[in-house]
Amino acid sequence: MEALNAAEFLNRLAEYREAFWEKLNAERKSYGAEKPLSPAIVLRRLQFGVVMERKAAEVTARWVGQIPDLDLQQPMSEYVANELKHTSILRQRIKELNGDPDALWNQPLPELKELWDFHASLTSLCELIASVQFGHEEFFPRTSRSFIERVAPIDPKTASIYRDTLLADEAGHEWIAPEILRRYATDAATQ
Ligand SMILES: [Fe+2]
Ligand SMILES: [Fe+2]
Repeated sequence: MEALNAAEFLNRLAEYREAFWEKLNAERKSYGAEKPLSPAIVLRRLQFGVVMERKAAEVTARWVGQIPDLDLQQPMSEYVANELKHTSILRQRIKELNGDPDALWNQPLPELKELWDFHASLTSLCELIASVQFGHEEFFPRTSRSFIERVAPIDPKTASIYRDTLLADEAGHEWIAPEILRRYATDAATQ
């Protein structure tokens, strides 16, 4: 297979992502993802966040040492630190709400475990970045915005954590994944 140029490659990946999003979004809605929230659902959502944030940090951390250029390596290490910081903030909020911060961490949903085991098994930096950061992490702002709107009336503090810290940090690291792929996924083997 011949290598695509960087713009074509990123376009192709974005097409896969959007097709996946359509499917995921339909499934989310059938699970009741956009329904009005109750305190129990908010707690579950925060426990889910603990797993997503901590796992994103864990699977990425081991690749940081292999990023050749310092101008990408340094922001990627900040990304890892940010995701762990988000984990701590969410755990703290769960404790304030009298929940178990590690309920889902200790007993992960099988589909989540499968997802993270897959990410941990990837054998190259570009695959990891394409799947975790360019792929599903891109969905975080989309699902968070509607969560923030719905949680604000019943739990303004949780809404502010999502809006002012989690989403705000997200905006600061969105550029890293496309830039890593542009720079290192340049041949048929890495694409
Ligand atoms: Fe995060
Ligand atoms: Fe993130």
